[in-house]
Amino acid sequence: MVVQINGLTKRFGDHEVLRDIHLDIPEHSVFGFVGANGAGKTTLMKCMLGLIPLNAGTITIAGEPVIFGETKSNRHVGYLPDVPEFYPFYSASQYLELCAVITGMPKDEKQARIRELLQLVGLEGTNSPISTYSRGMKQRLGIAQALLNRPKLLICDEPTSALDPAGRAQILSILQQAKAETTVFFSTHIVSDAEQICDHVAMLHEGRIIFQDELANLKQQNEGRFLFTFTIPAAEAMERLQHLPFEMTVTDGRLAVNLPDDNARLLFMQKLTAQQILIQSMQPQTRLLEQLVLEVLT
Ligand SMILES: Nc1ncnc2c1ncn2[C@@H]1O[C@H](COP(=O)(O)OP(=O)(O)OP(=O)(O)O)[C@@H](O)[C@H]1O
Ligand SMILES: [Mg+2]
Repeated sequence: MVVQINGLTKRFGDHEVLRDIHLDIPEHSVFGFVGANGAGKTTLMKCMLGLIPLNAGTITIAGEPVIFGETKSNRHVGYLPDVPEFYPFYSASQYLELCAVITGMPKDEKQARIRELLQLVGLEGTNSPISTYSRGMKQRLGIAQALLNRPKLLICDEPTSALDPAGRAQILSILQQAKAETTVFFSTHIVSDAEQICDHVAMLHEGRIIFQDELANLKQQNEGRFLFTFTIPAAEAMERLQHLPFEMTVTDGRLAVNLPDDNARLLFMQKLTAQQILIQSMQPQTRLLEQLVLEVLT
């Protein structure tokens, strides 16, 4: 495990922001940390960086205990804050060069590493100053900077939240590639982002972790679930199909049906035909995490 968090509790005054948090993050995984605004995501990341003291519990990163005010464990960590700041007049490569000098990276390593990172984040051909960058470009540069010294853990605080769909897709793809050389821990309130690239997900709600699991496990639980719309309302279709041995629910105006194997699917189609119910759309239920979150919150 590259990160082990045990019994972490954090209060601001009498406001308990994090309660008895336990998290284990395995190496070379993408770990999604999902939570609504104000759930405590940034606070947990600040605890992991030793920037604020804990009220209870311990954090270990790459075998090193995190101690408030000490930076020893931070040499294993690259951090992309929620609003990264740069020197506006530098270009991306000049900026990374500066960071490399500050962190004492050997000269012969520097150029190759910077080239490699600029390529990873898709900024290799850009010579204009950072002040002209879009938000997405700044986030991508922030990731390159955080990865510069080959950290064992990359912490990104809501890297996709302010971006449009294309920008988000780029960041997600970069994080997924970064998994080959590090472990990625990122927070988001966009559940579908977590679902796209995560190996593990944990959800924080009112200061507590309400679930954490491998995404594959969550997916398996939903294997064979399909969402239908018909030319008649879903509730009416369910009424007419009530006698079938399949688990059915109406959600969001659609009929969700568990059809675990080919026989079940065939039988279901035959019954639809027999009932003269016409399908308008049919899709496998893939937005399962979103569903789970809604179920937990409502
Ligand atoms: N320094 C502080 N002093 C007092 N309260 C704080 C402090 N920092 C955070 N909080 C409170 O802790 C709670 C969690 O805040 P935090 O910023 O960790 O949430 P978040 O999940 O990162 O939210 P967002 O999605 O908006 O970034 C909030 O209620 C916030 O007001
Ligand atoms: Mg935050």
